[in-house]
Amino acid sequence: MARKFFVGGNWKCNGTTEEVKKIVTILNEAEVPSEDVVEVVVSPPFVFLPLVKNLLRSDFHVAAQNCWVRKGGAFTGEVSAEMLVNLGIPWVILGHSERRALLNESNDFVGDKVAYALSQGLKVIACIGETLEQRESGSTMAVVAAQTKAIADKIFNWDNIVLAYEPVWAIGTGKVATPAQAQEVHFELRKWLKDNVSAEVAASTRIIYGGSVNGANCKELAAQPDVDGFLVGGASLKLEFVDIIKSAT
Ligand code: G3H
Repeated sequence: MARKFFVGGNWKCNGTTEEVKKIVTILNEAEVPSEDVVEVVVSPPFVFLPLVKNLLRSDFHVAAQNCWVRKGGAFTGEVSAEMLVNLGIPWVILGHSERRALLNESNDFVGDKVAYALSQGLKVIACIGETLEQRESGSTMAVVAAQTKAIADKIFNWDNIVLAYEPVWAIGTGKVATPAQAQEVHFELRKWLKDNVSAEVAASTRIIYGGSVNGANCKELAAQPDVDGFLVGGASLKLEFVDIIKSAT
């Protein structure tokens, strides 16, 4: 089954109402390949989700950057999967390395979050990736396999998951993985899925790359056979995000 190219824009904790409206205007006016060729999902901070959803062109979609691990209730400051569904938000990013590192989200916790979000009907961009120390000690595959296993152990259906490989050392550093480095890990991840989930899931699951992707390096990365798109941080707030979307073709 052909895997449709996927480009996510993670706006992280950035933006004012005016800035958000400006980005949406740029996106709405952009000439990009059709929805049949590339799936585009942008992820503003929670407070801007309704605004962006209302203003954004209908062929692009929105994602939240997180959601609570279970049903809502007395969990001050959290936003539940049910609330996102209620607002018509189709996607959520879970397991981003910033949350794993700064908020101590463990593999298990991320696995539970992914399973709960899927059970409520959300689609999930599930993030995994190794630190520089882990890469240099040769444990990249062991780390990303353990992160993926914690998710795989808790879900039964991979139709609504995009796996985002984001090496921590490449995030926000300007130090992008080389196309060969990205391809190597994506290939191994697909093999892991084949060996541990199924050949069908391995063939159909999109594995996207994140970490210092920009308008200049996206083409070469996109040409790798196991790179099915991108999760873009900094560059998703700029005009060059449009070029990244165009790298689908
Ligand atoms: O979610 C996106 C990643 O953290 C990549 O961020 O493109 O700013 O390196 P970046």
